[in-house]
Amino acid sequence: PWQSSGDETMRAEPIRFTLLARDGRARAGFLDTPHGRIPTPCFAPVGTQGAVKTVPAWDLEALGAKLILANTYHLYLRPGDERIARLGGLHRFMGWDGPILTDSGGFQIFSLQGLREVDDDGVTFRSHLDGSLHRFTPEKAIRIQENLGADLIMCLDECPPPLDYDYNVRALERTHRWAERCRAAHTRPDQALFGIVQGGVFEDLRTRSARFLIGLDFPGYAIGGLSVGEPKALTYRVLELMDALLPEEKPRYLMGVGTLLDFVEAVARGVDLFDCVMPTRVARHGTAITRTGRLNLRNALYAEDPRPIDETCGCPTCGRFSRAYLRHLFNVGEPLAMYLTTLHNLYTMFRFMEDMRQAILEGRFAEFRAAVLEAHAALAP
Ligand code: GUN
Ligand code: ZN
Repeated sequence: PWQSSGDETMRAEPIRFTLLARDGRARAGFLDTPHGRIPTPCFAPVGTQGAVKTVPAWDLEALGAKLILANTYHLYLRPGDERIARLGGLHRFMGWDGPILTDSGGFQIFSLQGLREVDDDGVTFRSHLDGSLHRFTPEKAIRIQENLGADLIMCLDECPPPLDYDYNVRALERTHRWAERCRAAHTRPDQALFGIVQGGVFEDLRTRSARFLIGLDFPGYAIGGLSVGEPKALTYRVLELMDALLPEEKPRYLMGVGTLLDFVEAVARGVDLFDCVMPTRVARHGTAITRTGRLNLRNALYAEDPRPIDETCGCPTCGRFSRAYLRHLFNVGEPLAMYLTTLHNLYTMFRFMEDMRQAILEGRFAEFRAAVLEAHAALAP
């Protein structure tokens, strides 16, 4: 397990965020970490259990991944954070030497069915694997994340139903105490610990949360508790509020979002970082993402379609294989279908982020956004 060298007195921040351009409220920059530079805005694919499902690290590099997310909860249960530490940390374990972000486990625990008992000190839960009892406190969530060794780590938080005011009041108090304790427990000077703003869709609670966490002076801020079923208009209002409150000079990370449309609308409201399982998850069910909509590759419509998924795409899948071939692979249950479609979807996300970043740098984000909105309007039934 990771041991502190003992000298925590000079705590220079392990990350440096450089804003290169602003266009409206959209931002483009660099987030420098101990494992390399993340151009922002950036989308991080999800490798819950230490793997982006079906995709080896060399493909992630070739596709243009800049940041990978992994989950504290899952890796703590299997193979165990101490085992990963003994094996040299998560970067070496995964064979990915670029930046990694770990989520704290809070969100996964609160999404569990069955026993999950939260009190002011922490949360007790049963493993989804064998029903065994476990307990996370803020200190434990930090110790696990120090053992894993990601570049960006998250405070333990509670993600309540977004529309329940009273619940959000109580959960927010707890999340704030936990943030203080996470900050106090965190010792590794080569990791940046982010605070997570909660407060549901309520302006007063979100404001209180942002102010409280800003007071703790985290090197970056995550925006949690969104895109969990609330109307999009409310999501956007919360993001606008966060943009007004959070410090300009620190990165903002919108957790668990989302689609190309979500990216452009959140970037228009000052967000820099994203993660989402959607592109990889839907790929394994036969859904290919393009800028002009989704294709269900299982559809008989494609049985003799010689075209690639997307004629404008530069991904390895589109360079070589037809819709007809992919449709056949899904039809007969070949695992290759999932891999090839995942490559395409990830490439599409990364290229979209790069194009959006370029548009911000060149002062034409408004046109970029208008084109994306128009493409989506054309899709609406
Ligand atoms: N992932 C998506 N939303 C959340 C959230 O509110 N908290 C945490 N910790 N992770 C998330
Ligand atoms: Zn492609």
